[in-house]
Amino acid sequence: MQVTVVGSGYVGLVASACFAELGHWVICVDNDTAKVAALERGETPIHERFLPELLERHRGKRLKFTSSLSQAVQQSAVIFIAVGTPSTDNGDCDLSYVEVVAREISRSVSGYKLVVQKSTVPVCTSEWVRRIMVLNGAPENAFEVASNPEFLREGTAVSDFLFPDRIVIGANSKRAACLLQEIYRPLTDGSYTRRENAIPEPDQARIPARLIVTSTRSAELIKHASNAFLAMKISFINAVGNICEAVGANVEEVCDGIGSDPRIGDRFLSPGIGYGGSCFPKDLKAFRAVARESGYDFRLLDEVIRINEEQCLRFLRKVRSALWTLKGKRLAVLGLAFKGGTDDVRESPAITLVELLLREGCEVVAYDPAAMVKSREVLGNRVTFAESAYDAAEDADALLLLSDWEEFAVLSLPRLRRALKYPIVIDGRNLYDPQMMGENGFMYYSVGRPEAFPKENSEQMPQLRKAS
Ligand SMILES: NC(=O)c1ccc[n+]([C@@H]2O[C@H](COP(=O)([O-])OP(=O)(O)OC[C@H]3O[C@@H](n4cnc5c(N)ncnc54)[C@H](O)[C@@H]3O)[C@@H](O)[C@H]2O)c1
Repeated sequence: MQVTVVGSGYVGLVASACFAELGHWVICVDNDTAKVAALERGETPIHERFLPELLERHRGKRLKFTSSLSQAVQQSAVIFIAVGTPSTDNGDCDLSYVEVVAREISRSVSGYKLVVQKSTVPVCTSEWVRRIMVLNGAPENAFEVASNPEFLREGTAVSDFLFPDRIVIGANSKRAACLLQEIYRPLTDGSYTRRENAIPEPDQARIPARLIVTSTRSAELIKHASNAFLAMKISFINAVGNICEAVGANVEEVCDGIGSDPRIGDRFLSPGIGYGGSCFPKDLKAFRAVARESGYDFRLLDEVIRINEEQCLRFLRKVRSALWTLKGKRLAVLGLAFKGGTDDVRESPAITLVELLLREGCEVVAYDPAAMVKSREVLGNRVTFAESAYDAAEDADALLLLSDWEEFAVLSLPRLRRALKYPIVIDGRNLYDPQMMGENGFMYYSVGRPEAFPKENSEQMPQLRKAS
């Protein structure tokens, strides 16, 4: 099928590459001409596993890039909108990018078009898109608007797209539902995974993918409610972790206990410095606003947001309690992305913490495997960027682990210890076992678990200074 995807960000670019991988002819449109030029040159603007391979495989063949939306619309039966939907200052969802695209599409409608909302939007947005298109001259019977929310996670976006837990199609007509079902058929009949050069299926992949067809309003609500629920799970376990710290229990043991109940499940029960990224924070606020406008006061969401904001401040207090004073301390920060596996630093709790530490007068030396370029745009020269984790640790007063990159969980502890001025590790992602860290000579602080100290030096912190 000939499809257009508007937006070449994390969702639009991954969707474009994956639709091409499924056998469709895809035009990916972005109004950022520099981005389009970079994509045409063969660059991959985001860090995402398997994306470079898919772009390489389909670029210039099944997948084309352009900044001309009108031409793309004329050539396509199905147009996915995947532009940003950020928060406004008062927490509402800013739909102005979606509206601009809807207006532009309406000028090029000739023959039947299905406009599909893939961006995360408040309930009833599909109806608004339809209204805007009609007001801007699109013939009423020539097009339909459907919803197809995206559930991919940054870091595993390609695998999530090609091996999804579910595909949600919100359509108010059979024709629209059938068109979308056709697009996803290689995933829902399991044929994609049987292809010779298919992207490897992840563990526990659900094959074939489950298809859920709903009304457009339900589909829009499914996305907001999913993200709100996941954020609630994170805030819940962070709150439990805080109680564990207060009473000397171990949140990992508690998670094991509660997560083995299948009604709760053990995924997403990882205490840390809180959720971030371009989705949860803004989607929670938007869902809160949707509820308010529909007459329901969803105060539970306020508490989820409050716990999350507090989590960063609690971690800052942890750093202070480990180091006593902060001014002038040199801190090695590992991880700037909002989570491991991505270069996205939008609403990253790691960046929030770095900002707080800088405000306290700390000197920060940071390293992230993929997010250095994007972090530099935010932090500029207020932070020193290191070449590696060990480089960052060199002569630092303490090491802070702020993103859950796999490579940060397998660092050479002797090498780290030699590099640090003091063997102090404050782990915001619970990447290490406390007892093991103590045995390796570290003073180790994490979230919701007991602290650990080197046996020989547990009471004599000043003597921990590295012999120079
Ligand atoms: N990032 C995620 O993990 C994720 C997951 C699921 C859903 N979503 C949702 O998907 C949507 C897109 O998110 P994203 O992270 O890909 O955003 P993004 O900011 O990375 O990308 C948006 C892209 O749209 C382009 N754009 C904006 N206006 C345009 C226009 N008028 N014409 C053409 N292109 C235009 C921008 O230049 C940009 O490249 C959001 O609603 C988001 O909530 C994101």
